[in-house]
Amino acid sequence: MSIITVATSTYDDQRPGTSGLRKKVVVFQQPHYLENFVQAIFNSIETCQGQTLVVGGDGRYYNRQAIQTIIRMAAANGFAKLIIGQGGILSTPAVSCVIRKYQTIGGIVLSASHNPGGPDEDFGIKFNGSNGGPATEKVTEAIFATTKSLEHYLSCDSADVDLDTIGSTQVLNTEISIIDPVSDYADLMEELFDFEKMRSLLSNRRFKMCFDAMHAVTGPYAIEILEKRLGAPEGTVMNGVPSENFGGGHPDPNLVHAHELVERMNGTEPLAFGAASDGDGDRNMVLGSGFYINPCDSLALLLDNAHLVPAYKEGVAGVARSMPTGRAVDRVAAALEIPCYETPTGWKFFGNLMDAGKITLCGEESFGTGSSHVREKDGLWAVLFWLNIVAERNQPARTIVREHWSKYGRDYFSRHDYENVDSAKASEMIEQLRTKLSTMAGQQVGDLTVESADDYHYIDPIDGSESAKQGIRILFTDGSRIVMRLSGTGTSGATLRVYFDRYEGDPFHVSHDPQKALADLIIAADQLAGISAFTGRQKPDVIT
Ligand code: G1P
Ligand code: ZN
Repeated sequence: MSIITVATSTYDDQRPGTSGLRKKVVVFQQPHYLENFVQAIFNSIETCQGQTLVVGGDGRYYNRQAIQTIIRMAAANGFAKLIIGQGGILSTPAVSCVIRKYQTIGGIVLSASHNPGGPDEDFGIKFNGSNGGPATEKVTEAIFATTKSLEHYLSCDSADVDLDTIGSTQVLNTEISIIDPVSDYADLMEELFDFEKMRSLLSNRRFKMCFDAMHAVTGPYAIEILEKRLGAPEGTVMNGVPSENFGGGHPDPNLVHAHELVERMNGTEPLAFGAASDGDGDRNMVLGSGFYINPCDSLALLLDNAHLVPAYKEGVAGVARSMPTGRAVDRVAAALEIPCYETPTGWKFFGNLMDAGKITLCGEESFGTGSSHVREKDGLWAVLFWLNIVAERNQPARTIVREHWSKYGRDYFSRHDYENVDSAKASEMIEQLRTKLSTMAGQQVGDLTVESADDYHYIDPIDGSESAKQGIRILFTDGSRIVMRLSGTGTSGATLRVYFDRYEGDPFHVSHDPQKALADLIIAADQLAGISAFTGRQKPDVIT
């Protein structure tokens, strides 16, 4: 076995997006494409010599091949050890947990999250640092810069490693350690939550719940924790075996894609509690009986009830939400007199705040909720948090939400996605809107009056780094808001995301359909930005 220096030529499209580099599988299969990006990651680490790296993915098509490539390159680059989940499996929050537990230099997550998988679908790669969180923009920009000038990468001529057997082998001088992907994570969950209390809830046959793993990575985690450790009946976890193409589905836990679960929550005998997670296990959707719980409300509720959960009973230092996320959590933070931070879209912006001890809980409207127990959003953690609250309060989830609305009022929220829009048209739409922002204040749209409009510019309160153009915000005099931005995770065309939110303080008006409560804002967005004219679409593809 020997180290090989491979000459390569560069690609110009390897700038990481909101969450790592995501492309179609065929793009990753081009000669040296994956290798270039991996070498750029390794070059961003001060020294690979003697370090330990965690590697795992969501089990999608190309996961195993990519891991074999990474093993050969990591060995040639001098890593002392690789920790790899059995079968190449590690959920995103589990990678974060393992990096932190074994104090490694970082980890590589192979996933395109909620995007479909398969030979014609998506693949992705993301680097997490030694805090367990996604690399900051400074690091991802450095990786991108390297990909543009790379002339060679290091690899070796070793045979494939058996990824399915737990134990250690050696490639060059690198120890390859295949670990149980679930146990470290499950142990951490057991430290955070009151498993005894939850066990009595889940073993009560009158409490019927279901967790939809959507043929993705959380299956083995949910079976171990919900069924084995917490005693829920076998079959509580549906679609629990990870598959390379997620059973042909779209592993995105929302009302559209988790329809099997939604049916069980709404049938003649609806279950008491339902939840789902995405491809790589960092997203969550929670449902009460016949009742959808919006992720923005969910974050607010977790904060308001955090004192009921062992890990958070001493208090929460502060919270953060991404800018487009509805502002329900702000009200709870104000009531608790703790700071509430606003960050750009993407989990990487929460890391500094968590590392500095400023926040304990954080979340995004895109079904992402998490805490400082790891440095990623964590789907199963959010579900367990909810179950702990339900067990402690001994009330159905939907009653808990309704009581929250009568206490704090409701922040109606909705996001409209226009997918696979012509990229040039989408950029043109955003550009023309940008030029109008400085003169928009005072403008009437229907019954609404614009109070202010800007393009969100973030200054990180910890390291002072700046991120410009993070989304257009239009605020109205009644406090309601429209946000527009283009997705940074899509792999074909552009995805336009339009976010709407409005506060309703009157307890008699908190149970309306959000689309109706936000109807005038939805019309205003089209009038202000010309959405239908630019996109050629009369309605969004996905509404959440
Ligand atoms: C989307 C979500 C964002 C999330 C990211 C990764 O990014 O909107 O909140 O952090 O996926 O899961 P976007 O496609 O909007 O750039
Ligand atoms: Zn994900």
